[in-house]
Amino acid sequence: MEKKYVLLTGATGGLGKAFAYELIRKNKNLILTATKLERLEQFKTELLEINPNISVVCCECDMSSEQSRKKLFDFVSNGEFKIEMLINNAGYITEGEVASVTPESIRQAVRVNCEGTADITKWVVDHHQNEDKLEILTVASLAAEYPMPYMAVYAASKAFVLSFMTALREEVKDKNIVVSTVIPSGIYTTQAMKDAIASQGLGGKLSSMTPEKIAQIALKKMGKAIIVPGTFNKLTRFMSEFASYTMLAKITGKRWRKSQKKRNMIKD
Ligand SMILES: NC(=O)c1ccc[n+]([C@@H]2O[C@H](COP(=O)([O-])OP(=O)(O)OC[C@H]3O[C@@H](n4cnc5c(N)ncnc54)[C@H](OP(=O)(O)O)[C@@H]3O)[C@@H](O)[C@H]2O)c1
Repeated sequence: MEKKYVLLTGATGGLGKAFAYELIRKNKNLILTATKLERLEQFKTELLEINPNISVVCCECDMSSEQSRKKLFDFVSNGEFKIEMLINNAGYITEGEVASVTPESIRQAVRVNCEGTADITKWVVDHHQNEDKLEILTVASLAAEYPMPYMAVYAASKAFVLSFMTALREEVKDKNIVVSTVIPSGIYTTQAMKDAIASQGLGGKLSSMTPEKIAQIALKKMGKAIIVPGTFNKLTRFMSEFASYTMLAKITGKRWRKSQKKRNMIKD
């Protein structure tokens, strides 16, 4: 008989791991995916040591590749898995002014964050049976709401994600499918992100959270269309409604230029 599973992308990253720890506390079975099978298998062992009563399976997938995604879809189709939840967490973060990022980096952000996320979501929605509940939680970013000079590609890719998921939510609401998107600000995951947060002083500190906290909030608030973790971020989002889109680009541009100068990413 098919067992229920949560399909989690980006399972080897900072936030992905935090989601997995939180999910096994709730006795959820997991299908973990990321690009490296060895790292996934190591993590699986760790998870099963914490909770031996669940089932964890791993499938490597490069979300930027159509062929690789097809292999993941075949793996899920051929197994005894019923997807009760999809967590679109895999993400490719690019930072830097458009003039200095490589064309490949731009393509990768679009492929992973936009194409890969939309493709896996469509596949899961298409294979869903109406009598079962399906929850889809996608990690976008607060960056999805503003044009972000010096992080233009990443912010634009997350704007795609937020728009896509919010629209999809309306389309599938009568099919027993709930679509939520979480839009965190800074998360203390990679060293690069920790440095970026630190370079923003008090603003960075007030807007940023640990991956554990983000995972807890996102899973708890699942069901809401857009989940904004943290009071400071909710306030920032509210205040930004009073500024024009071009004004927001000016404000965020100033903040990121200062942050990247501190990290020697740009010179005057
Ligand atoms: N950190 C922040 O400040 C922040 C803020 C807001 C939103 N977010 C979003 O939060 C999510 C998790 O980010 P994180 O901070 O935890 O980053 P992370 O530690 O770098 O983890 C990223 C995850 O995405 C996976 N991934 C990247 N490229 C992939 C590809 N081509 N195919 C399959 N998987 C791929 C990585 O797997 P591999 O290691 O196998 O490549 C990794 O598991 C992302 O969507 C990110 O955009 C992060």
